[in-house]
Amino acid sequence: MCGIVGYVGKRNATPLLINGLKRLEYRGYDSAGVAVRQADALVVRKSVGRLAVLEQKLAEHPVTGTLGVGHTRWATHGEPNEVNSHPHTDCTGRIAVVHNGIIENYQELRAELTAQGHKFRSQTDTEVIPHLIEAELAAGAPTPEEAIRRALRRAKGAYALGILFHDQPHTLYAARHGSPLIVGVGRDEHFIASDVPAIVDQVQRVIYLDDGEVVILRADGVSLSRLDGTAVEAKIQPVTIAAEAVEKAGFETFMLKEIHEQPRILRQLLARHGWQSGTVALPDFALGAPYFRKLNRVMIVACGSAYHTGMYGKLLLENVTSLAVETDLASEFRYRDPKIDPGTLIIAVSQSGETADTLASIRMAKSWGCKILAICNVPGSTVARESDAVFFTEAGPEIGVAATKSFTAQLMAFALLAFFIGRARGELAETQAQELLTDLQTIPDAIHYVLDRKDEIRTVADKHHDGPSSLYLGRRFNYPTALEGALKNKEISYQHAEGYAAGEMKHGPIALINEYLPVICICTRTRDEVYAKMISNIKEVEARHGRIIALATDGDATIAQLAEDILWVPPTRDEFSPMVNVVTLQLLAYYAAQARGTDIDKPRNLAKSVTVE
Ligand code: G6P
Repeated sequence: MCGIVGYVGKRNATPLLINGLKRLEYRGYDSAGVAVRQADALVVRKSVGRLAVLEQKLAEHPVTGTLGVGHTRWATHGEPNEVNSHPHTDCTGRIAVVHNGIIENYQELRAELTAQGHKFRSQTDTEVIPHLIEAELAAGAPTPEEAIRRALRRAKGAYALGILFHDQPHTLYAARHGSPLIVGVGRDEHFIASDVPAIVDQVQRVIYLDDGEVVILRADGVSLSRLDGTAVEAKIQPVTIAAEAVEKAGFETFMLKEIHEQPRILRQLLARHGWQSGTVALPDFALGAPYFRKLNRVMIVACGSAYHTGMYGKLLLENVTSLAVETDLASEFRYRDPKIDPGTLIIAVSQSGETADTLASIRMAKSWGCKILAICNVPGSTVARESDAVFFTEAGPEIGVAATKSFTAQLMAFALLAFFIGRARGELAETQAQELLTDLQTIPDAIHYVLDRKDEIRTVADKHHDGPSSLYLGRRFNYPTALEGALKNKEISYQHAEGYAAGEMKHGPIALINEYLPVICICTRTRDEVYAKMISNIKEVEARHGRIIALATDGDATIAQLAEDILWVPPTRDEFSPMVNVVTLQLLAYYAAQARGTDIDKPRNLAKSVTVE
């Protein structure tokens, strides 16, 4: 979703803005723009498409100044064109604004401002903000800051804003409510950005803004206040990610790099949460065993890939505890009436920690008195800050839009959490927990084994990539894997793919099967009772001449007779097999996308961090 970068200091802002925007490209965007204060005016340059187009424009018509804001836009209100791109200005071009979020009452505000004589150029919700500020100044607001506060008290919805005034040559203004924004603290310079990776090469210290805060940045200092004008003390924190973490490290794409990082990340998680005092260790975890003993229900909420890990988490928690567990899409949950009381734990799963629907679900559940446990990858994110306890997945910045390493880290987090909760409730015997943990330790090596066979996966992807559609089937623990495999394929290769519970196939998708349809069947086994059922489902596909691509456990002779192509994985305990199987499917989607020539790290229309509803 939209990315924001702003700068005030002594250096030329333009290249710093472009550099920051490039580091935000992964969030997904369709147009971009900057406003830089040059001489006495705010100069705005915008373009549609990739940042390279904006860079070209800036090379032809350079703009120089020590104060500026930049923006990558992911269109919501109004198509991606230059007029709708940010920055937006007031009637006179003296106030420039970049925005991430949605101003929900913009139509009403726009009508009111239009009636007062304001001229609007774009179809965006954002444009009301510079006009509102302009109107507040005209109505007598004593300072730009006060005009911003008055304007924002009228705006409903979500925003992260960067604001420039032509007559404030040394001051950058920013505000946040519901959309992420951080301040980067440098020496004689300050930045704003949508997230830390945007400025990780420029600053070592940041301030995470809270909702309702307005910030004034100058080269030599920052001051924070709330919308009502009360001062807020800035909490400056060190940046915890390294600049190299957002480089490709020799891989052709971020996604491929992130796929290869998975064994290391899972190994790290296992090392950090090793066996201690009869259970897995959850260092610094704010919810203790007594809380889990009293618990009667768990509700997992998430979006996208995180929802698939939530489905897995439910199965595992049900397996090792007596808890009633439900998983729901955050976008659905927030509009339900789920009869939840304070005895229910909400587990919110989010890589970015900024997904609007997940956040709204958390806030709703908090108002019912529930505790919130987040499984989250980004320290300082809103989800992390608003939750009672956080299990950090510690996968490092994920730049590829399609989730990979964050996905397997979430699966691992669920496994460790389930053992912890099972032990805390006395429902998982110590010996059984130890046995499970021992099996879990084999997962990083099993993933290595898959990575080592990536050429075989590429061969299969090359063979099947050009069809219009494919079907992914799995059962039980690997039903979420099937959904995730299909999602990866759609996201990056743009091939229609459907994930289905194999037992449900007879109730519809079987009508799709013919001699052209690739059917990816996840049929790994150690002792899983659904293995035999899965074989029956594969036979049903075979009987209708579907093209069977099986994910199978090394040496499985039954599958060898049924499938056209087989992607082998090493024997892995069924409960943990999704962590290995999904890596095969990530690579399958990856090579299909490569064969189809898509932009793998930045697939069309997608955003990494979905900060609007
Ligand atoms: C977007 C991303 C997905 C992600 C989903 C949820 O759609 O492209 O990869 O799974 O949002 O994001 P979250 O940050 O909450 O995990």
